Amino acid sequence: MPTSVYFIRNVAIIFFLSAYTVFTVYRNAKFINTSFALTSTTRIFNTSATITTTTAATATATNAPEHPPPDPAAPPNCPTWKPFAVKQQGDKDFSNNCRVIVDENPSFSVTLCESMRECGQGYFLIQRKDEVQCAKAMAKSIAWEPEFDAWMKSTIGPDAFTVIFSGPQRASPSDWRHLGSCQYKHPYRLTNPGNYTVSITHTHAEFHAIQEKKRTWQRIVNEPILVEFALDACSTLCQPFSVRSVEEEWRKMKGRVPVCSRVMPVQGVYLRSGLEGMVDRERYKYDAFKVPYF
Ligand SMILES: *[C@@H]1O[C@H](CO)[C@@H](O)[C@H](O)[C@H]1NC(C)=O
Ligand SMILES: *[C@@H]1O[C@H](CO)[C@@H](O)[C@H](O)[C@H]1NC(C)=O
Repeated sequence: MPTSVYFIRNVAIIFFLSAYTVFTVYRNAKFINTSFALTSTTRIFNTSATITTTTAATATATNAPEHPPPDPAAPPNCPTWKPFAVKQQGDKDFSNNCRVIVDENPSFSVTLCESMRECGQGYFLIQRKDEVQCAKAMAKSIAWEPEFDAWMKSTIGPDAFTVIFSGPQRASPSDWRHLGSCQYKHPYRLTNPGNYTVSITHTHAEFHAIQEKKRTWQRIVNEPILVEFALDACSTLCQPFSVRSVEEEWRKMKGRVPVCSRVMPVQGVYLRSGLEGMVDRERYKYDAFKVPYF
């Protein structure tokens, strides 16, 4: 009986999800992925449609360097529980607020540029120090199609990295761009305020991650560049989201949430789970099997 009840419950949940498609849960040991889509799945779709048709003037405005807020004492804006246009986020320019955070590494330097107006937004600039090595990698032929070769060189670049944020949210942003001369911009936008550690690992060099001409396994570098760097994303200013607070918010939205777009991916956030913030299914599993999600 419990199995069939469970089965019926699952079916109901699946129907529920496909009706509203607002709440998907993926789990790993410590984090629960709570999907966005509280208010703006439709909006982001419309926003992106607008982005593709922006005039040059608006595009320039988006990419203009951010200036400090008019009132220097004004606190920055807390993050909101909303999806955002990932590419547009990567175009933002916070060059007025940068600092070098890794200099002693023999291969790379890392600069952190942070928004002065928005909590938890910024990017890392990772620069390969050896210009000769960079030029050599860039001169390699890496794809059969010359246009694709040129695109991968200008956009992706010879090196690959993983950037991992750990804290009230776990994130590993996958959008980055090669700015040229082996300088890479890794943008991030955290949804949950709080204290984080950030680790950056150099994973591939010389286009080994993407080259398509040699039938060899990808050669992995896996050199740590930044290890558990402390990043405070407005931890003392903003109220963090918890799995429970998000679920309560979502309950209130019932019936008024827009359905998910079929063309835009649903964005999600891995939130840290914990005894205090357990939602019903976590509590059920914990009570029944003494197995916590975290
Ligand atoms: C998005 O665009 C569609 C079509 O233009 C429109 O019907 C809809 O109301 C818009 N949604 C929002 C949230 O602006
Ligand atoms: C986050 O870290 C900073 C620096 O260590 C500390 O001053 C601050 O109190 C911490 N915030 C919280 C909420 O613990």
